[in-house]
Amino acid sequence: MREFDLVVIGAGPGGYVAAIRAAQLGLSVACVEERATLGGTCLNVGCIPSKALLSSSEHWADLRPLATHGISPGEASFDLAAMMARKDRVVADLTKGIAHLFKKNGVEWLNGRGTIPAPGRVQVGDETLAAKTILIATGSDPAGLPGAIVDEEVILTSTGALTLPQVPGHLVVIGAGVIGLELGQVWSRLGAKVTVVEYLDRILPGADAEIARTAQRLLQRQGLAFQLGRKASVMREGARAVVTLERRDTGATETLAADAMLIAIGRRPRTSGLGLEALGVAVDPRGFIAVDGQFRTNVPGILAIGDVVPGPMLAHKAEEDGIAAVEALAGHAHPAPDYSQVPGVVYTAPEIASLGATEEALKDAGRAHVTGKFQFIANGRARAMAATDGLVKVLGCPDTGRILGAHIIGRNAGELIQPLVLAMSTGATLAQVAGSSHAHPGMAEAVKEACLAALGKPLHA
Ligand code: NAI
Repeated sequence: MREFDLVVIGAGPGGYVAAIRAAQLGLSVACVEERATLGGTCLNVGCIPSKALLSSSEHWADLRPLATHGISPGEASFDLAAMMARKDRVVADLTKGIAHLFKKNGVEWLNGRGTIPAPGRVQVGDETLAAKTILIATGSDPAGLPGAIVDEEVILTSTGALTLPQVPGHLVVIGAGVIGLELGQVWSRLGAKVTVVEYLDRILPGADAEIARTAQRLLQRQGLAFQLGRKASVMREGARAVVTLERRDTGATETLAADAMLIAIGRRPRTSGLGLEALGVAVDPRGFIAVDGQFRTNVPGILAIGDVVPGPMLAHKAEEDGIAAVEALAGHAHPAPDYSQVPGVVYTAPEIASLGATEEALKDAGRAHVTGKFQFIANGRARAMAATDGLVKVLGCPDTGRILGAHIIGRNAGELIQPLVLAMSTGATLAQVAGSSHAHPGMAEAVKEACLAALGKPLHA
């Protein structure tokens, strides 16, 4: 029987990063992955292919406003198959890159489905491995809509929505969350009529409400239609789907016919089939594996990270979980993770980035705070680039000046938020951010200005 210090089950961003770091720390490591390629949902059917399609479709959508810059592109067309092939190449190159990193760091990749027949044992096909420690990093699956049978042709999850062979005439998206907006925007730009149906009365639950309202307005301007406060049920009828919408306030119903329907109503931890029940691994009422600050489950020798444990279901969170788990395992002190400092980004155009508390959360908690905002329309670089939509909003503590939250909607919001993540995690104050030099002309000057506004000293507003 082959023996390893650590066997990681799952090679998504959580599992593969944990495996590499554990190997770097001197552990003998195997990583079990059932997919034919490494990288998990994120690289294969999630973050990366969606960003490839967002980027391609943005180039297409950007042709129209080129007239603003005095450019006439003439006759233009796109080839969906070529766009998809490019996306597949991006994915293939990145997944091969992980295989290379495994080789370089001495991580053994075992291709197959891993189960845990007993503590200290991992089964992969016919082989039983002995593992001093087992790390569960099996990620999550799309949540299903009761009664809707996913066929990935007409009734889709994000996986199917990344491989449609033609642009649907009408795409109905159920769920105005991250996936719904990103993939809704891709197909809207490529010519589909897109209707986004949302159960709540707002889009992007969890995001700052002002930012979410701005996002909705800007996305509507681009052609996305929203049906909020509606419960959806779905049936496939031949080559189409029929979506019944029930208004939550009046109970009135209406139907929509869709050429494709994307279910994007959240994700669920993937914990079944591993043997966890027989092992007695404790799971919380929502199905997440319960872990302590070092990612240990209640069963000695079994750790869990990423989407199977509580916290934001994000690739970068899973990576940090994985690093913290194996560093603690190897005896390196590691603080318990602070998920309040994990940024979230929606890669639509404009991008939407959030960090820490929303204004509503601070109000609800009765926590004193100062708010500073700056609109990109007053930023020179944004004007020069015709990227004036959006704003920066920072929330700070009036006593300490520390940053409690930051919310940005606009071009490159996902990059603009990053210095604020550093500021928040190192305890830098609004005054320190505002006092640091920001290159001119730059979109990041809006971050400085928002901090100045929070301090009551705005310059350009
Ligand atoms: P989500 O949790 O972001 O949004 C789901 C939306 O569906 C919510 O607005 C919810 O109110 C709504 N909903 C739930 N049930 C409904 C129903 N029956 N009818 C209508 N609306 C309903 O989930 P999403 O977009 O599926 O994403 C899943 C996970 O993947 C999230 O945790 C997300 O953070 C992650 N992800 C992150 C990305 C990023 O960081 N850029 C990109 C894609 C996904």
